[in-house]
Amino acid sequence: MVTTRIPTTPFSDQRPGTSGLRKKVTVFRQPRYVENFIQSIFDTVEGAAGATLVIGGDGRFFNDSVIQTAIKMAAANGFGRVLVGQKGLLSTPAASCVIRKHKAIGGLVLSASHNPGGPDGDFGIKFNMSHGGPAPESFTEAVFKRASAITEYRIADEPDIDLSRIGQVKVGDMTVEVIDPVADYAELMERLIDFDKIAALFRSGFRMRFDALNAITGPYAKAILEGRLGAPAGTVVNGEPKPDFGGHHPDPNPVHAHDLMELMHGPDAPDFGAASDGDGDRNMIVAPGLFVTPSDSLAILTSYAHLAPGYAKGLAGVARSMPTSRAADRVAAKLGISCFETPTGWKFFANLLDAGLITLCGEESAGTGSNHIREKDGLWAVLLWLNILAVLEKPADRIVREHWAAFGRDYYTRHDYEELETAPANALMDTLRAKLPTLPGQRFAGLTVQACDDFAYTDPVDGSVTPKQGIRILFKEDARAVFRLSGTGTSGATLRVYLERFEPSASRHDLPTAEVLAPVVQAANEIADIAGRTGRDKPSVVT
Ligand code: G6P
Ligand code: ZN
Repeated sequence: MVTTRIPTTPFSDQRPGTSGLRKKVTVFRQPRYVENFIQSIFDTVEGAAGATLVIGGDGRFFNDSVIQTAIKMAAANGFGRVLVGQKGLLSTPAASCVIRKHKAIGGLVLSASHNPGGPDGDFGIKFNMSHGGPAPESFTEAVFKRASAITEYRIADEPDIDLSRIGQVKVGDMTVEVIDPVADYAELMERLIDFDKIAALFRSGFRMRFDALNAITGPYAKAILEGRLGAPAGTVVNGEPKPDFGGHHPDPNPVHAHDLMELMHGPDAPDFGAASDGDGDRNMIVAPGLFVTPSDSLAILTSYAHLAPGYAKGLAGVARSMPTSRAADRVAAKLGISCFETPTGWKFFANLLDAGLITLCGEESAGTGSNHIREKDGLWAVLLWLNILAVLEKPADRIVREHWAAFGRDYYTRHDYEELETAPANALMDTLRAKLPTLPGQRFAGLTVQACDDFAYTDPVDGSVTPKQGIRILFKEDARAVFRLSGTGTSGATLRVYLERFEPSASRHDLPTAEVLAPVVQAANEIADIAGRTGRDKPSVVT
């Protein structure tokens, strides 16, 4: 094998965010940009020589080209074996599963998750560690440092490999195994979830729609739902992964999955609706006539997970990100298990999972997962729901209403102000932070501030402290507003405002969310002077 050492100079913007390096495709297509970043990762990984590396992506535009580059660079950097999904495809949860199962040193996951794809869309590169989860900040900061001083990268002078066929090839001394992207994942699901029960449910006439939004979960959902579980052909729609996601915005929420919402709220609604995002780690659950908020979904899964074989012994604990509603906390209290509140970012769950402190975790941003891998897992959440539906033999909407009746309902909404200029967005947060000591006792829109803070997290496993993770304002009326800036955007800043109010009384569980939350919205807008500071009189997206 001829290894070429190519001289290069650093790019100043290769600092990974919440989920790896995410930029516009046009940025990634600059000469040497991808190579610099991958070399910086390989320089940071310890013990690469002879080790196994997993490579795969969500199939978005530019995936195929970066995969070939990554394979040749892995060979030049001394890896022993690369496992790559056929056609370069691996969903994020499947990548996590393959890394763990095959004892890989880690994996390169090529995705920008739920962000749009195509030549003008987004791309991303993320490194996952040997436990299958996203690299911690100590690692990503080391990558950034390396990328800021890089002088050369190494690449094997070899032809592209054929990714369309399953099998083994050599790239220099390194073995490349092109694997079925679904097989290992499906086998893991079969161990956790009662496939026979779900198959019987489908045989009894149960109908669902799974909208893959032309992203990565299409092949997974078809193989598992239609293939193994016998759901009728056509259950999975938009099942072909496309480089531009067929023009869809592959984010499973009521705004971007509007076709599914319309179907589930219409006269021909099937028994259950679900969707997943660009790289397959998010999920959306819709009961007939009722969107299930991710916060409620986590709480309901916590209540009933023991009905699935993988969780039959009960749960060690549960965790949610801070902006996620407190619905799961109440279930945890009833079950007598601990509930942890972490900052936004899946990596914060990894330590709790590794230490065995929790079994389930989830986030308001449509992520739910368990200790089976170290990423959130869209299709797994859907399968767990199906398992519960099959055992309880009750309609999904009834399960949700019974949950509210037993625990109370957390009305919940999120307002996103996208593509703000960075300086005024930072100024809004700074001003709000400075105001915190004066807020308790003040009234806004009829609500009284009871307490407020800037959320800081102390990891219970390693004691590390992560400050400034979002501003929380609690009102005496059992309502809450949370403000934070997104860590996953690719241009400008996105302000997220999370708004919720707890309603214990079952007679008030069928009100329109916007109506219940109107005072909380008004209070949040006043407290942060959102309109004044951003020049926006309404959010860009409300979910
Ligand atoms: C990714 C992370 C999640 C996080 C989400 C939203 O999907 O894995 O853990 O909740 O991004 O992050 P953001 O910073 O954009 O609100
Ligand atoms: Zn995702």
